[in-house]
Amino acid sequence: MTRKLVVGNWKMNLDARASAALAREICTKITPEIKTEVWLTPSFTALTSVAAELQGTAVRYGAQNVHWEDKGAYTGEISAPMLKELGCTFVIVGHSERRTLFGDTTETVAKRAAAAFRHQLNVVFCVGETLEQRNNGQTNQVLEQQLNPLISLLQDHQLDLLTIAYEPVWAIGTGVIASAEQISEAHQAIHRYITKHFAKWTGRVLYGGSVAPDNFAEIVALNGVGGGLPGGASLKSQSFVELVQIASEV
Ligand code: PGA
Repeated sequence: MTRKLVVGNWKMNLDARASAALAREICTKITPEIKTEVWLTPSFTALTSVAAELQGTAVRYGAQNVHWEDKGAYTGEISAPMLKELGCTFVIVGHSERRTLFGDTTETVAKRAAAAFRHQLNVVFCVGETLEQRNNGQTNQVLEQQLNPLISLLQDHQLDLLTIAYEPVWAIGTGVIASAEQISEAHQAIHRYITKHFAKWTGRVLYGGSVAPDNFAEIVALNGVGGGLPGGASLKSQSFVELVQIASEV
């Protein structure tokens, strides 16, 4: 059985020193019997200091975004080769904050994912509906629309690099959590949709959106849930490692 995966999304929090300290605390609290895979996404400026703390551990680190070109006149962006140089093994793309606050579209998100695949970076590809879309009964349609460009560019040999994160926009940072039924349905729809096009895909679908130690046990045990993408709860070693422990006990 595939191990569960917990990806800490630190967003634009913690400077390099605080990130290194958190990474160190997390590593000391993760005991050898914990089976969960653990990935961390510090801010770009903290990648090097976090890398130093994670050396020799099984915890991996990656970035919160990536540009689709390898280099060029793209002020403020960062490329896959630059992230690889720092030892990143994965990137998050299409987080709803990127889509809503920074103008990422379904197409640019797909191009970012394509660049990551081209450079053998794992991709945590985020999808999720707004409350209005859910209330209008459009959830599955929105998920398919967000997945479609990915489906068009994905190649068979890249399947192992793909992880999906289902993050209902209305559950991110709000303390409002999707119900078990809503999570199950969305995860199964995502699995169905991807395997309709790529029968061999066996990747994980993570749940994100107000994940916390008091709600994660129920979520991570659901059929089709491969782990979690916590934001707020990943910023303290205590709550983050609790999530990692919970995922290990499923
Ligand atoms: P949250 O964030 O856990 O703070 O809701 C999750 C995310 O945005 O990935």
